[in-house]
Amino acid sequence: MSAHGTPVPMTASRSGPLTGEAHVPGDKSISHRSLILGAMAVGETTVTGLLEGQDVLDTAKAMQAFGAQVEKAGDTWHIHGVGVGGLAEPSQVIDCGNSGTGVRLIMGAMATSPIAATFTGDASLNKRPMARVTDPLALFGARSYGRSGGRLPLTIIGAADPLPVRYATPVPSAQVKSAVLLAGLNAPGETVVIEREATRDHSERMLAGFGATVTTEDTDEGHVITLQGRPELKPQSIVVPRDPSSAAFPVCAALIVEGSDVLVPNIGLNPTRAGLFFTLQDMGADLTFENMREEGGEPVADLRARFSPNLKGIEVPAERAASMIDEYPVLSVVAAFAEGKTHMPGVKELRVKESDRIDAMATGLRAAGIAVDEGEDWWTVHGEGFGRVKGGVTVKTHLDHRIAMSFLVMGLASNQPMRVDDGGPIATSFPVFEALMAELGARIERDAG
Ligand code: S3P
Repeated sequence: MSAHGTPVPMTASRSGPLTGEAHVPGDKSISHRSLILGAMAVGETTVTGLLEGQDVLDTAKAMQAFGAQVEKAGDTWHIHGVGVGGLAEPSQVIDCGNSGTGVRLIMGAMATSPIAATFTGDASLNKRPMARVTDPLALFGARSYGRSGGRLPLTIIGAADPLPVRYATPVPSAQVKSAVLLAGLNAPGETVVIEREATRDHSERMLAGFGATVTTEDTDEGHVITLQGRPELKPQSIVVPRDPSSAAFPVCAALIVEGSDVLVPNIGLNPTRAGLFFTLQDMGADLTFENMREEGGEPVADLRARFSPNLKGIEVPAERAASMIDEYPVLSVVAAFAEGKTHMPGVKELRVKESDRIDAMATGLRAAGIAVDEGEDWWTVHGEGFGRVKGGVTVKTHLDHRIAMSFLVMGLASNQPMRVDDGGPIATSFPVFEALMAELGARIERDAG
């Protein structure tokens, strides 16, 4: 089943050169955060370039349920925030659909207000672990009642007299870090998050942009983020940069489709997000960063990807994992077209994404003729090399947009087409994927019927 409807089977077939410009949508992480922080500021925040994928639209609806006004006029989203501590108790269940980021960040944002809220999601989200967020929220004084294993549906009763928290995250997760920081907004004093490996830092950057006092420091303990509680957040004008995680799909497609030359303009290259592009360069990809510049405090470039027939398998550094965690599925497809082994260690988190991404990719790759070895926190793809990837199978996407897009990219260069059982979830993060890829010359079709 699709995230919000009936399954949409899709097939990708071997394509001619991909050429032209790919204007990918706004960054999903930054889009969620603009809506949530906009709702917690006093006054009107405007956002352009917001990703209008289902995940983000579900967050917009949720923030309305907590009392903020969220409207779109022309190309601009307007959010009238209620201030830190001003969230209202929703009168309905908050359905975050497919979005782990949405639900985890919103749980954090409401956990230090004296209100209750019940959260749910689709079949994928309701399987994902939430204790990683409710455990630290309990330290602030919030109580939660969920299904066994801390699964959704889950009710949180926010703390009436929250305490500030000092929390070392046991998993490398920006969602956990962000939930704690958002909860810390309405706690007195300093809330501190310590992460062993730095994860994406959009929350810290945006909190500072909204006027909160937030500092980061590298110490022997790790990456230490300190937030002063109870700031007055000042409304902002936000221009959302384009999503490097979406850019990954046309970039990787261009590398493996013969004769391709694709420009993907205006991509944020925040070092906590750009790991895939450096990994592809290490594999010998013809991928360049053009027109490097800085926008809104973030490094930005136009990515140029050209067909790269001589890719080599590599050892992907484990310490790079957090900066490319969402890109391993499509990297494993590129690895299938490379010569030799690509070993990807330190990626346990892939097992608790929208699907178990190691299992989903390994199963589909093996069916398509690629050898894959795996352990709990690593996997190895044995590349066949360009022109030798069989394809010719239907794979299950398990309600996971990135699994669907990865196998469709594979089908553009494999010898036989690749079919996915359900491309519907692509709309959660990349609603214009089919049109954008078609424009470049990709043959991706929905099954007739
Ligand atoms: C995200 C963090 C990552 C990532 C997700 C978006 C965010 O998840 O996989 O797509 O916006 O904070 P984790 O925090 O679980 O690693």
